[in-house]
Amino acid sequence: MNFQLVLDQINAELRPLLGQQGQVARYIPALARVSPQQFGIALRTCAGEVAQAGDSAVPFSIQSVSKVFSLTLAIKALGEALWTRIGREPSGSPFNSLVQLETERGIPRNPFINAGAIAVADRLVTLGDGKAELLALLSRLCGEPVAIDAEVAQSEADTGFRNTALANFMKGFGTLDNDIATVLDVYFNQCAIAMTCEQLACAAGYLCRDGRHPLAGTPVLSPAQARRVNALMLTCGTYDAAGEFAFRIGLPCKSGVGGGIIAVVPDHLTLCVWSPALDATGNSLLGRQALELFVAKTGLSVF
Ligand code: DON
Repeated sequence: MNFQLVLDQINAELRPLLGQQGQVARYIPALARVSPQQFGIALRTCAGEVAQAGDSAVPFSIQSVSKVFSLTLAIKALGEALWTRIGREPSGSPFNSLVQLETERGIPRNPFINAGAIAVADRLVTLGDGKAELLALLSRLCGEPVAIDAEVAQSEADTGFRNTALANFMKGFGTLDNDIATVLDVYFNQCAIAMTCEQLACAAGYLCRDGRHPLAGTPVLSPAQARRVNALMLTCGTYDAAGEFAFRIGLPCKSGVGGGIIAVVPDHLTLCVWSPALDATGNSLLGRQALELFVAKTGLSVF
């Protein structure tokens, strides 16, 4: 299949729509300043073929896409023990919702909503230095050094009132072991990592290769663990839009409010799309349309 042609076609179809719909994330001031007039897409196949189009080499704030990689570190270190205080069910609620925590004894529904990712960050703090580990993992996975955007991290910390509430609520129920400021520092910094579509398409590559490193071929996760991360991405990776994503696209996906979405075609390829304007559920509008076009043009889907 000529993937470069497919991505060029998607870029040509969607670029005229830039700026017409959706809004950049406004609740994090540093993200509110990002131009919505950007669209990038990149993929990397299991055989190492790459294709890219549009603004695929522009770094953006990966935000909740980081939750896949923090989960990966936690699963690798803790195995089944990770699941004692974190669930595996879709929430059907917005990513920053407090509601279910109240009736579910402070146990977050899954590791991809904010509460769940904060609980994962808590486990990483217990294991050592979460921030450094995550940066090292991502740099290894894409073969290039990646960094935290300090301005975005500060902006998150200055306005992270809901995340602070989620952390306090979970701490009250005994879900978090470490002090809240330390845990939130890891969480805010992981969200503020900046990467390009090309880097993320490569970094996610272990998810289409039974857990094997996209460049080195060494195990990042076991095949069973990689399957589980994919299952969670399909059912929970796009929050209360996960059903709609499965219906329209049918690929494990993980989105972030920076406008990035990574997607996995098991045994074939991983791809990353980015466009900062979001829909009401916090998912990139053109990103979702790009993935729909990709599946329609290639027939690649898990269903
Ligand atoms: O904590 C937050 O709200 C953001 N740093 C991340 C949220 C996010 O990316 C949800 N994704 N759609």
